[in-house]
Amino acid sequence: MKPRLLVTGGAGFLATHLLHQATNFTATGTLHRTAATSIPDVSFHVCDLQQPQEVRILLDRVNPEIIIHTACSDQGGNLSVIAPAAGLLASQAAERDIRFIHLSTDQVFDGMTAPYHEASEKHPINPYGTAKSQAEDLVRSLHTQATIVRTSLLYDLRIPDRQTRQLIQTTQTEERYHLFTDEFRCPIWVEKLAQALLELAKKDYVGILNIGGPESLNRWDLGMELLKHFNITPTSNIQKGTIEESGFLRPQNLTLDSSAAQQLLVTPLLSLEEARKVVGKIHKEA
Ligand SMILES: NC(=O)c1ccc[n+]([C@@H]2O[C@H](COP(=O)([O-])OP(=O)(O)OC[C@H]3O[C@@H](n4cnc5c(N)ncnc54)[C@H](OP(=O)(O)O)[C@@H]3O)[C@@H](O)[C@H]2O)c1
Repeated sequence: MKPRLLVTGGAGFLATHLLHQATNFTATGTLHRTAATSIPDVSFHVCDLQQPQEVRILLDRVNPEIIIHTACSDQGGNLSVIAPAAGLLASQAAERDIRFIHLSTDQVFDGMTAPYHEASEKHPINPYGTAKSQAEDLVRSLHTQATIVRTSLLYDLRIPDRQTRQLIQTTQTEERYHLFTDEFRCPIWVEKLAQALLELAKKDYVGILNIGGPESLNRWDLGMELLKHFNITPTSNIQKGTIEESGFLRPQNLTLDSSAAQQLLVTPLLSLEEARKVVGKIHKEA
């Protein structure tokens, strides 16, 4: 019998990759406002994770053994849902003895004392980081056996992700677009994060785990590498910038140390160059 897996945010970026790869699970995704693309052997349930009654009905119907909670990101304009939805799911999962993996972010840190380890103290400086930090606290207090995965920027190499799409579109306009040279992240290929999470789902690891890519890149270098990957020539309206010049409140250096995850998991957390080689190889074999 395959373990029953519930993935929240089923039409979202990470969840779609999780559900495509979850062939060793009996997998279900939740839907909210967006329709999902059909995925073989995956069922979907509509559920607003803010509604306790809807969450109870969902869990009664699906009866999952594992939940991977990806829903409620910085998209959609409603950050106020992030903490309560995580708390509601965590408490229900604890009550029903369901393994719970909660997706969090490197943005729970202020970017002043990188690299960040699992034990590093949180200090969010923007509303998204604050909401995700509150969600982590709720999950830890309501489900003592939960796993909290802090990850970094997710990118895709087959179909451009949201931010890369925006960058590509900008090359077709004259609109000025700044990529920060002073913001550092550990970007991870969404396919590898999904693979790592599915491996983690079958382990009983408790607590915080960083799962980012193995290299720290600034936004300019990452943007240029992704344009190169998709064979797009950068245009002169895409320029180097800094967080300070922009006036935005953003953490500068969010380098994550993911060595604990790399020791725990067989899934390799590839650098961008290594990931590009995998995609190149798959293309040649296809
Ligand atoms: N993407 C990144 O670079 C990144 C980086 C670090 C951490 N993360 C974390 O990783 C996780 C996945 O990110 P992602 O980019 O894959 O997210 P995403 O594509 O923005 O998907 C989020 C999903 O949450 C659903 N959702 C929002 N409100 C909901 C509600 N009230 N009830 C049920 N579902 C609701 C949305 O459904 P509707 O659209 O239908 O409302 C959407 O499908 C998130 O927890 C995010 O914070 C992401």
